[in-house]
Amino acid sequence: MQMDIVSFTKRIYENMRLLVNIDHIATLRNARGEGYPDPIEGAAVCEEAGAAGIVFHLRGDRRHIIDEDVYRLKKSVKGTLDFEMSASEEMIRICKEVNPHLCTLVPEGREELTTEGGLNMKTVYSDFEQRVFPEFKGTGIEISLFLDPNPEDIELAHKLGADTIELHTGTFANAVDKETQLNELERLRKGAELIHEAGMTVNAGHGLNLDNLPILIEHVPHLYDISIGHALISKSIFWGLEKTVKEYLKIMDV
Ligand code: PXP
Repeated sequence: MQMDIVSFTKRIYENMRLLVNIDHIATLRNARGEGYPDPIEGAAVCEEAGAAGIVFHLRGDRRHIIDEDVYRLKKSVKGTLDFEMSASEEMIRICKEVNPHLCTLVPEGREELTTEGGLNMKTVYSDFEQRVFPEFKGTGIEISLFLDPNPEDIELAHKLGADTIELHTGTFANAVDKETQLNELERLRKGAELIHEAGMTVNAGHGLNLDNLPILIEHVPHLYDISIGHALISKSIFWGLEKTVKEYLKIMDV
């Protein structure tokens, strides 16, 4: 693949970082509408336990995180704040108002239970080029694109000027047999190499847990921010949030 590597400064990171996705603390809160558990309190516990930052996904249907949470998180999160969202006009407006460190753009479907895969860059390219990227120009917000490890998608993301790619690890995480898992790990490894060579940052997330994270880390190089939500928040019901975050950090050796 031909990539203009001169226009980017290669970023070399010593350590990967854990960003905790707190959406499902809000899911639990919304189940009863009593105002607890508070995702903002959860975010503080995660950061105190050593997480480098917090991720939230403000969905069009506001099924978990709501607008008020976003503004409260902006005030209270000390580390990296990653605003995961679709590229709708409404989300871009809120994101620019909130001014997080990172904005991760994902495809969003009304019927889906969770994000089901990466962006199809061929489909979104011209819209992102003409409408979305110009909106963020000069804001200082880093743009991350959530992609499957397809070389064509990575190349188009680079052409657009994305700072970061978050590799979709869901196919690896959900693999039902060893062969499928190894094939997907190999695709992720090659994808991470391409992203790194192009001078973009390699993030990863979706479906990661205490069992599959060590396998991912062993096979995939250049990982920086690892975004983990559902499995971590679920485990915290039994272990507590602080201990659970620390167990993930042990695996990541940070
Ligand atoms: N990264 C992205 C782009 C996502 O959409 C999600 C799910 O919201 C995650 C990471 C976290 O996935 P999980 O909740 O399965 O850990």
